[in-house]
This record gives sequence, C-alpha cells and structure tokens, in this order.
Amino acid sequence: MIRKACNADRSAIGKIYCETWKEAYKNLLPDDYLLKLNQDFCMPKSENLTNYLIAETDNAAVGIINYGVSRDNEIDKSGEIRAIYVLPQFWHKGFGTELFLAAKSALKKLNYTSVYLWVLAENASAIKFYEKMQMCPLNVKRNINIGGTDLVEIKFESDL
Ligand SMILES: CC(C)(COP(=O)(O)OP(=O)(O)OC[C@H]1O[C@@H](n2cnc3c(N)ncnc32)[C@H](O)[C@@H]1OP(=O)(O)O)[C@@H](O)C(=O)NCCC(=O)NCCS
Repeated sequence: MIRKACNADRSAIGKIYCETWKEAYKNLLPDDYLLKLNQDFCMPKSENLTNYLIAETDNAAVGIINYGVSRDNEIDKSGEIRAIYVLPQFWHKGFGTELFLAAKSALKKLNYTSVYLWVLAENASAIKFYEKMQMCPLNVKRNINIGGTDLVEIKFESDL
C-alpha cells in the first residue's frame, strides 16, 4: 500500500534512509562514512513531509519517495524525484515501482508535465530501475561530494 507520510513516520523514514544507504552505497562511499550514519541523523527533523509517500506492508513502512518542486531552480514545468529508497530486504518486490508511479501521478496532479532526477553514475541497479520506469538519461552530469568522496551524477528525465 502507498500512503502519504505523516509526522509519526519521521523515525521510520530515518531508518529507511540509513539502512538503504548502508547497503546500496557500500561500494561507492567510504565504510567509515556509512558506519556513522544512523536513524537519528538520517530522519527528516523539521522538513515538511507533504511530498513524501510511504510504501507500507504488514503495518510497517518499507520504502519512501520524496518528490516535488525542482531543487535546481530549473524550468517550472519539471518536477523532481528527490529520493527513492526501499529497505534492502524488500527490494525486487515491486515497492519501488508502486512508489514511483504514485509520485508521478502526484506530480501530474500538481500540473507538472515532466519529471527529472539525479542518480549516481555508478549506481547501476538504480539506473536499471529508472530505465524500467521509462526515465531517459540526458547528456547532463554534475559533480558532487558525499562524505569526502567525489562522485558524478547523471540526470534522467521523462514526460508525465
Ligand atoms: C532502486 C529501488 C528504489 C528499486 O526498488 P524495488 O522495490 O527493488 O523495485 P521494483 O521491485 O519495483 O523493481 C522494478 C524493476 O526495476 C528493475 N530493478 C530494480 N532493482 C534492480 C537491480 N538491483 N538490478 C537490476 N534491475 C533492477 C527490474 O527491472 C525490476 O523488475 P523485476 O523485479 O521484474 O526484474 C531500490 O532497489 C533501492 O532502494 N535501491 C537503493 C537506493 C537507491 O539506489 N535509490 C535510488 C537513488 S537515486
């Protein structure tokens, strides 16, 4: 089931960020950086949760997606998928697809006509997932630094 997030979800969101980062980025980011991540550090503290959706099963949150207005001050017509994380033990069960489709539909209702996102160039599994979601890679890259590691992100886009 996909539902809107509420304040009671803050710690569950922190857990999903933290546990997913530790598994998904274990070969991309330094061990000591990932070791330091914990639920408290990763949970959204004061951020409005309006644009978070939760994937839930057996009354437990197992995935999140955060979408909304572009953080890059780009063309107004494009909404952004800012984060999508599913707990590793629930990968490949369809939760990511459900979250992604629900966020696209929410962006459409907000009158966006396209959606974009950034993904680490080395995150091959997420790239496969986005391609399955019919997102197209653009010839646009940016450099980012996470925990002292220099990385490259690729931009993906699709019409809504
Ligand atoms: C990417 C992610 C959200 C996908 O969620 P999910 O619940 O596993 O996705 P689904 O089960 O809906 O998968 C849909 C399809 O995407 C593709 N896919 C998903 N994960 C994949 C992987 N690791 N390798 C190859 N293809 C993958 C498959 O085609 C899959 O269909 P299939 O299971 O019938 O083969 C999840 O794997 C995740 O949280 N990854 C770590 C965090 C991350 O990298 N987030 C993106 C940051 S930009």
